[in-house]
Amino acid sequence: MRTDTGSIFRLEDYRPSDYAIPRTALTFSLAPEATIVRARLTVERREGVAPGAPLRLDGEKLTLRGIAIDGEALPVSAFTIEEGHLTIARPPAGPRFELLVETEVDPLHNQALMGLYLSNGVYCTQCEAEGFRRITYFLDRPDILSVYSVRIEADETLPVLLSNGNPGESGRLEGGRHFAEWHDPFPKPSYLFALVAGDLGAIRDRFVTHSGKSVELGIHVERGKENRARYAMDALKRSMAWDEAVFGCEYDLDVFNIVAVSDFNIGAMENKGLNIFNDKYVLADEETATDSDFANIEAIIAHEYFHNWTGNRITCRDWFQLCLKEGLTVYRDHQFSADQRSRAVTRIAQVRTLRAHQFPEDQGPLAHPVRPRRYREINNFYTATVYEKGSEVVRMLRTILGAGLFRRGMDLYFKRHDGQAVTIEDFLRVFEDVSGHDLSQFALWYHQAGTPSVTATTSYQPASRELTLEIEQSMAPTPSEPRKRLMHIPLAFGLVGPDGRDLPFGTAAGATVEDGVIHLRKRRHVVTFTGV
Ligand code: SER
Ligand code: ZN
Repeated sequence: MRTDTGSIFRLEDYRPSDYAIPRTALTFSLAPEATIVRARLTVERREGVAPGAPLRLDGEKLTLRGIAIDGEALPVSAFTIEEGHLTIARPPAGPRFELLVETEVDPLHNQALMGLYLSNGVYCTQCEAEGFRRITYFLDRPDILSVYSVRIEADETLPVLLSNGNPGESGRLEGGRHFAEWHDPFPKPSYLFALVAGDLGAIRDRFVTHSGKSVELGIHVERGKENRARYAMDALKRSMAWDEAVFGCEYDLDVFNIVAVSDFNIGAMENKGLNIFNDKYVLADEETATDSDFANIEAIIAHEYFHNWTGNRITCRDWFQLCLKEGLTVYRDHQFSADQRSRAVTRIAQVRTLRAHQFPEDQGPLAHPVRPRRYREINNFYTATVYEKGSEVVRMLRTILGAGLFRRGMDLYFKRHDGQAVTIEDFLRVFEDVSGHDLSQFALWYHQAGTPSVTATTSYQPASRELTLEIEQSMAPTPSEPRKRLMHIPLAFGLVGPDGRDLPFGTAAGATVEDGVIHLRKRRHVVTFTGV
């Protein structure tokens, strides 16, 4: 997909918005062609911003029905709407005000499948990356974290009304309508907002977290498909247990819902407490699915669930940092699959995917760093480089630090940045802080495109029992990066004898060699092993 907006977004141009939106209360009155969205936003001017600075909200494909500040309707002269923005020229000078915006959207004719759409009788949302602006006017950027309350009103023919967070009141309304309220206590960016309304079937289960909290689990599917969701439920419970055991990440809401529908074009999406999937990544039974279908379902269920901490509790400051959540979460789902299945077999499959999709990307005209520096259309950056290479970079970090320090770094990441929107620099800093390592050369893996090549030759001197290993790294230029800097490449190694057994050695010189890893930092290293 490419939507050329004409403007290029640059990493170095990032600056915080003038206003924050700490609270967002939404009421949806669902109707196929004219859904009314009432948004009550608590808007706060940030420190250091001039009182009355203009407030520029994002909004696309919206019909504005009303706008008011602190209960007073705004005259049309007080705001402008153009090119995807609603700008209030002079908001109140005080530090905080309440903005009420009423918009109308047309879910039935929303063919973009971004924002709120109606397909096969089910209302569904997709807001990553910039779909929320098709629901209401908002600061639709990931560093605006807000506590959401949602009320959904719909016909009783749509019995299931879901949104993020924990369920609140629900009940009947006049005229064959009913409502449900939801509250999500965890501040989140708008791209994690979700709403589903439909006549769906469900399977239910329960998970008790390690601190004894009971979580109600639901997987909602098109009627008649319920039994084919059982494997996904099993994978979900295993994911929840694994994330506690391996990363210390406990689930934080009273409910966790998955909705799987056939018309969802993103694959799967990690909306807080309400993951939405294309149902081909949820439904399977022994009659119709292959082994690799089961493995995929397990991996994708885990991936979206793991985002609850890596992506949702800690999110991205801006879309340049997409790998912060995606690379890390792919790394986590890879480790999960390796623990659930054969570590060697899953690793071979992951490397095959990397070589089949990411290597060609890195060698072609679209080569880009794991953390890009510019984009026109962020939807074009959900790439194998951001996801798969992003995961391999985290894996290398784990190789460099070892299991213990890596876990301590992750613990510090969760502790230090919970509830924040952060950057790759913040991520790397926690590992520097727990280990004392300087990761500045390693950080090139995020900043520089291209696949390094490493060649190795060995020679053995029987008389002195010395083995010499010559290793050289090189990297071909990529578009807009003619000169490449030398990378820090951790090379896990072992010496293996003709009988297939590990060969011991005495000392190693010529590179830093520790715990079975050779650290390449220069173009060429000649590593000498003695006592071989
Ligand atoms: N954020 C979603 C995912 O990767 C969609 O790309 O899980
Ligand atoms: Zn993801």
